[in-house]
Amino acid sequence: MAALQVGKAEILTELRTRPKISVIGAGNVGASVAQYTVEKELGDVVLVDVVEGIPQGKALDLAQAGPVHGYDSSLTGSNGYDETADSDIVVITAGLARKPGMTRDDLLFKNAEIVGSVVEQVVKRSRNAILILVTNPLDAMVQLAWKKSGFPPERVIGMAGVLDSARFRTFIARELDVSVENVTAFVLGGHGDSMVPLPRYSTVAGIPITDLLPADKIQSLVTRTANGGAEIVAFLKSGSAYYAPAASAVEMVEAILKDKKKILPCAAYLSGQYGTKGLYVGVPVKLGRRGVEQIIEIKLQKDEQAAFDKSAAAVRELVDKLKL
Ligand code: APR
Repeated sequence: MAALQVGKAEILTELRTRPKISVIGAGNVGASVAQYTVEKELGDVVLVDVVEGIPQGKALDLAQAGPVHGYDSSLTGSNGYDETADSDIVVITAGLARKPGMTRDDLLFKNAEIVGSVVEQVVKRSRNAILILVTNPLDAMVQLAWKKSGFPPERVIGMAGVLDSARFRTFIARELDVSVENVTAFVLGGHGDSMVPLPRYSTVAGIPITDLLPADKIQSLVTRTANGGAEIVAFLKSGSAYYAPAASAVEMVEAILKDKKKILPCAAYLSGQYGTKGLYVGVPVKLGRRGVEQIIEIKLQKDEQAAFDKSAAAVRELVDKLKL
């Protein structure tokens, strides 16, 4: 029996069969990312945080939920980066969360410092990984991570649009009393306040919501979506949203690892698409094993293009402050 165990252990160290997903920042979002990732059995998870004991404790706790949920993924917690070596995907959630009254932009400089140092540590050990950024202000953080990493832009992606569209879908489904599964929503632009929803491409079972709801109702749902993060901060007081942000990041992880070629709105590097060059902004992309495999460009109406340009300008203003 002992010999068999030794043999098995040897085989396991030689052949890593499950993908490795590292999650940096073991706070609310990071721990939920780890939880959804193992619940979907997407691979083994390494959780990293600067606070001693937190990643170790959360990883062990989640591992002990494995027998109940029926997952065999391994979970490791660490205060260092060696365990992240050769990750397939690294989800970066490290940073400060918003407090009431704080905008995402208030976080800019503090989180830039944190994300910059995290990316440096990560890329040294995982040259081929795909980075998914979650830390806010999102669009600026993903631009920073891309610059710092030296990775091709298709392997550095920001999670924003999946969350914004999930919020919009929730509100549309509630308004029409239909399943959230019937609702798709199309959003472009920067994360949160400056996002650009496209109601004519947002549908319920294929029917544009512009045929189902009056314009003023749609506008109120759009406004609520754009303020969706702040609405939750106002309730929680000591932190910001984490279940939906984590679920959104994990949808991206799944699309990549399963090479689904799934079209999702993400912060991606634009090199002229939508009239924007050299900047990360939210657009629909095709996600597969190589990361962003295609940027889906649609023809915008005049007012939509103007809203997109305004949103991109707001992102550029933040990025310029970072002097990358
Ligand atoms: N390296 C690793 N972890 C770090 C570092 C660092 N340099 N600095 C901070 N952290 C950790 C904190 O110790 C904390 O555990 O990041 C974690 C952040 O967790 P929370 O404070 O719970 O914040 P959370 O709600 O998870 O949000 C994280 O995601 O949605 C965004 O706006 C949100 O930018 C915020 C991020």
